Amino acid sequence: MFLFISRPMGTLGNRMRAVRDRLGDDFLDKLDELHLNALRTGLVSTVDLQEAYRKARDMNANQNRLNFLWLLGIIFFIMVATPVFYETISFLLGVRCFLPNNHLVWEATRPISDCEFCKGVVAPLILPNLTREDFARYAYSSRPIIVKKAVAHWPAERSLNYTYIKELYESVPGALDTVCQFQHFNSDLKSLRDVFKMSPKRANLSEGAPWFVGWSVCHPTVLTELRKLYPRPHFLPVDAEMPNTDYILMGYEQGAVMHLDYIPRLMWQAQLQGNKSWFLSPAPECDHQCQSFFFYVEPGDAVLVDTRTWYHANTIPRGQFSLTVQSEYG
Ligand SMILES: [Fe+2]
Repeated sequence: MFLFISRPMGTLGNRMRAVRDRLGDDFLDKLDELHLNALRTGLVSTVDLQEAYRKARDMNANQNRLNFLWLLGIIFFIMVATPVFYETISFLLGVRCFLPNNHLVWEATRPISDCEFCKGVVAPLILPNLTREDFARYAYSSRPIIVKKAVAHWPAERSLNYTYIKELYESVPGALDTVCQFQHFNSDLKSLRDVFKMSPKRANLSEGAPWFVGWSVCHPTVLTELRKLYPRPHFLPVDAEMPNTDYILMGYEQGAVMHLDYIPRLMWQAQLQGNKSWFLSPAPECDHQCQSFFFYVEPGDAVLVDTRTWYHANTIPRGQFSLTVQSEYG
């Protein structure tokens, strides 16, 4: 290209004079010399130089096309290779997900809260036992609510206990192999089998360390038997959607540490035995607009908290056994 323009003519000549002024005579003299040498070594005319320039230009265009195809190939390879890589690693490690599915990952990937849910809330709304119609105005609120003595009439309040649950699970074939989302919190009990293998003294905390566990009841026979002891809370909207499983939480002293629930609906919990303390806290990004607070529930109370937005933790007074049934509505 430089060789071709080294003999300026007309407008090109004016432009080259400007270039000569800017770059100096030495540089363009060297280009002239290079041009002449090129003609002497076989390139016989300016037409040859034009042809060489055209080929070089076409070669550049081809190179750009080649680079584009390489880029497409790399993108395709990443799209295909990445899932294959993760599937292979997951298979080799014997896990369903290569990335752990736990609170740490959920916390790191949760959306930022808009803080509207917690502005001005400094305590739960405490309601007396009330009808569905009276509760309608509070349903689907993100304000924490206690409905006093709302579940005190449930048969579960009298009949459901550690022994009943243990005997139910042990009497239904396969039930102990069909336990979903078992959580041992801070205790050393790693499965529901461990829970029911405890000595009677450990189970009632007359010896050994405190324990607290929770799990989702997903065996249909067990769930059916348990639900004979508790209906859905009478004050919830008649058209409220509820899940096919319920959650049981029981134990002593050590409750859940501060966390969010990653569940699709609002949570309700029936406190069947013992008192339980609740610590609620807004998301950290709402600390300057909202505040944390504490409350406790008693046997027979129902508590409703949007545990998807309120960080929550629980403790049970020393020596008391807490038993709760938890589910969702939405
Ligand atoms: Fe929770």
